[in-house]
Amino acid sequence: MRKPIIAGNWKMFKTRDEALQFVYNVNLKLPSNDFVDSVICAQSPILRDLVRRQGDSLRIGAQNMHYADNGAFTGEISAPLLENIGVEYVIIGHSERRAYFNETDEAINKKIHQAFRYGLKPILCVGESLETRQSNQTDEFVKNQVVLDLKGLGTEQVKTLVIAYEPIWAIGTGLTATSTQANDAIKAIRNVVRDLYDEETAEELRIQYGGSVKPGNIKELLGMSDIDGALIGGASLEVEAFIQMVNAAVK
Ligand code: 13P
Repeated sequence: MRKPIIAGNWKMFKTRDEALQFVYNVNLKLPSNDFVDSVICAQSPILRDLVRRQGDSLRIGAQNMHYADNGAFTGEISAPLLENIGVEYVIIGHSERRAYFNETDEAINKKIHQAFRYGLKPILCVGESLETRQSNQTDEFVKNQVVLDLKGLGTEQVKTLVIAYEPIWAIGTGLTATSTQANDAIKAIRNVVRDLYDEETAEELRIQYGGSVKPGNIKELLGMSDIDGALIGGASLEVEAFIQMVNAAVK
């Protein structure tokens, strides 16, 4: 049995005050992380404050990091710093970073290795554009991302990793993949991992769906055989919606 993981990706939203208020409010109501992992990925300057107030159930993640330990990389964030301030997760290769900041699969692969060097748990994002889906190349495209992004990782690392399947056309658009479309793509990802590694690794790896997830559709998505959680943008900004979605994951 894979433990579900519900993660909010706040992107570039919320001030420090708003974020602290949110964490204070959700902490009183989140179910135990014996049953579900709850994560909030916030902007870097407030990560330390959120870690200090994360309580028993919530865990904090960053939204990006560099693959070097340190250096002349103005504006970037290092894995040693994230480790040092107690951050547990880091989103890597979100489609917005791939699209707006030119992140390549090669850089993403280096970042995943770097995250593991510092004990951080990567949430690797993959997913196709509308054009790719319409030309029936989704499985091939996503497979290629997974192969390149996981290059050189060992089985124990892959078992710790979380993959988020986020079709780009479903992000922030209100268009959700149907539960069958999401489950099929996630099964295809699991098959790639089965081929690259082994049955046990494929069965232990947690794969989330992301793209316009909200309280009204999460139950159906999580009810599918291979969907182990959700990576949520817009709907994770509201306290009540976030709590409802975490509770939806408790079997
Ligand atoms: P939305 O839930 O706002 O569609 O965003 C999804 C996403 O990009 C999470 O990483």
